[in-house]
Amino acid sequence: MRKPRMPVPASVRRVPREHPVVDRERPVRRRAGRRPRPPAILVEQVAKTYEIGPISVRALRGVSLQIDRGDFVAIMGSSGSGKSTLMNILGCLDVPSAGRYEIDGIDVRDLDEDDLSDLRNGKIGFVFQSYNLVARTTALANVELPLAYAGVDRAARRSRAVQALTSVGMAERLHHQPSELSGGQQQRVAVARALVTNPTMILADEPTGNLDSRSTEDVLRIFARLNSEGRTIVLITHEPDVAEQARRVITLADGRIVEDRGLAGVHEHPPPLGERPVSPHLLRRVAR
Ligand SMILES: Nc1ncnc2c1ncn2[C@@H]1O[C@H](COP(=O)(O)OP(=O)(O)OP(=O)(O)O)[C@@H](O)[C@H]1O
Ligand SMILES: [Mg+2]
Repeated sequence: MRKPRMPVPASVRRVPREHPVVDRERPVRRRAGRRPRPPAILVEQVAKTYEIGPISVRALRGVSLQIDRGDFVAIMGSSGSGKSTLMNILGCLDVPSAGRYEIDGIDVRDLDEDDLSDLRNGKIGFVFQSYNLVARTTALANVELPLAYAGVDRAARRSRAVQALTSVGMAERLHHQPSELSGGQQQRVAVARALVTNPTMILADEPTGNLDSRSTEDVLRIFARLNSEGRTIVLITHEPDVAEQARRVITLADGRIVEDRGLAGVHEHPPPLGERPVSPHLLRRVAR
């Protein structure tokens, strides 16, 4: 395997496993009354406390949450309410101080660093507010990067990256560097990088926070499409109109869930009208 040209952080610099954790045949612990297929995300009484010298910051105080596969969830809440902390735990970028977190039925406490890295690379695509693209590196090379980490060969990397960039409308900008792209275009490259590994879940922390309304629309339309293809989407936002695009909106305050409401129905077609014949009386009234 050729070494990737870009610097690879020490945390991911390792030979990929032949059988990554996400493909492992692993019996799923079942409880009476539980559905056979585990939810995409199961969080039980998760707490996170940051210790900074003598000070403890309780960022999450017992969050319990279940997210089904293929759902589209927005997480809202004021600054400091714990949204990014929760997202980092959901994305296995950080570990809870207490409580349990299962992703696709896998308890993350059972996993070592390599397993967690496989899980992140194989299942999750991340999108951040500030795009987090590698500077002075083309859009194409940025999108190829996660595939390079995964050990995909050069030709396959290239064609998959081109495909991903094309799917977000960036086929004309393959060789542009981030500084040569608008904010909306950079974010679309970041979305292409998130989806090039074909993840089942997209975690996005304020992906439209730096974008104008047109680019926000573009990104939301891409998320809606990814969701309609069956991917689970969890999106943090401060903007109510962005949250309205989700099917479910969870609100955090001071490290706790204070509201959890479903929006299904708002975006779905109403059920077809019944077959009952309209009464002749009503028809006469309408005709008048
Ligand atoms: N690495 C850290 N070390 C110490 N405290 C932290 C750390 N990360 C977050 N915090 C604290 O945890 C709390 C929750 O932070 P978090 O970043 O999750 O909030 P947020 O809801 O994402 O806010 P914002 O909307 O501003 O992004 C805050 O009080 C924050 O100061
Ligand atoms: Mg945040």
